[in-house]
Amino acid sequence: MRIVVTGGSGQLARAIRETWTGHEVICPPEAELDLARQEAIQRVLQELKPEVVVNAGAFTQVDRCETEEALATLINGTAVSWLAETCDGLGAKLVQISTDYVFDGQGTRPYLEADPVAPRCAYGRTKLLGEQAALRSRNHLVARTAWLYDAWGKNFFLTMVNAARQGRELRVVDDQRGTPTSCRALARQLQLAIEEDWQGLVHASCRGETTWYGFAEEIFRLTGINARLSPCATADYPLPAPRPAYSVLDGAHRKELGSDCMGEWIDGLAEVVAHYSKLAQ
Ligand SMILES: NC(=O)c1ccc[n+]([C@@H]2O[C@H](COP(=O)([O-])OP(=O)(O)OC[C@H]3O[C@@H](n4cnc5c(N)ncnc54)[C@H](OP(=O)(O)O)[C@@H]3O)[C@@H](O)[C@H]2O)c1
Repeated sequence: MRIVVTGGSGQLARAIRETWTGHEVICPPEAELDLARQEAIQRVLQELKPEVVVNAGAFTQVDRCETEEALATLINGTAVSWLAETCDGLGAKLVQISTDYVFDGQGTRPYLEADPVAPRCAYGRTKLLGEQAALRSRNHLVARTAWLYDAWGKNFFLTMVNAARQGRELRVVDDQRGTPTSCRALARQLQLAIEEDWQGLVHASCRGETTWYGFAEEIFRLTGINARLSPCATADYPLPAPRPAYSVLDGAHRKELGSDCMGEWIDGLAEVVAHYSKLAQ
């Protein structure tokens, strides 16, 4: 299949490029496919004529979204309606990547796809608009994921490793629960979902759960970095955007759609650490 992946410089797009086999995968960066411009979306997709578009591009700076909600709405919401219209015109499938931040985080058991959404921050509100736009397209899959990281890009894993190497003391929140998900684990699941033509809304994060502090502990255990790490509460570390306290996603629906290959988050981390160590050699 010919597949276009938006946000070509992002960490998920890179994982897709590195893991997918057997397809023609084109990942235009923002300079070539700017989601903020309807004309660019239409022109590039009409030229490339993909069978599938994976929308991995987004305004992902959660705190900046609080003060730049109009721009975030354009990129995370309005652009998805333009992608949907263009995909419908081309007969292409739209795969929209969404987030656990559409939930308010007051839950006490993993969230199902059908659970009510109530985003607490601007990023979550704008990503919800994107979901709604994608769900209106004729052939779509909306995949909600969470806590993405890999051995490249801007993410918690690299932030922790780099800060610890600089000898910084690290205080990490221990009262937000979710599931770290490596981009490569998600990329492999997305390839299967596309090949098996999954439709609708699906949760696609790794299995298991932890806190950001638990994630950091495991990062340092597996990398062997001796870090000065201690837990703190969300209240001790105020940020502009409120985060959900609990955002574990239930993945049982994947099995109803086809081949579920999401593994335990801890195994995903071990794979990323092995790759990171190889890159560092
Ligand atoms: N990261 C997470 O923890 C997380 C969790 C749940 C869901 N998601 C979703 O997963 C998807 C992939 O995220 P990611 O982690 O790969 O984020 P990422 O590394 O920030 O990648 C997003 C890419 O989109 C690009 N972009 C921004 N504005 C654009 C525009 N106007 N036109 C085209 N591209 C634009 C960004 O470019 P710049 O870098 O130049 O801004 C970046 O390269 C996104 O939909 C995100 O909302 C992410």
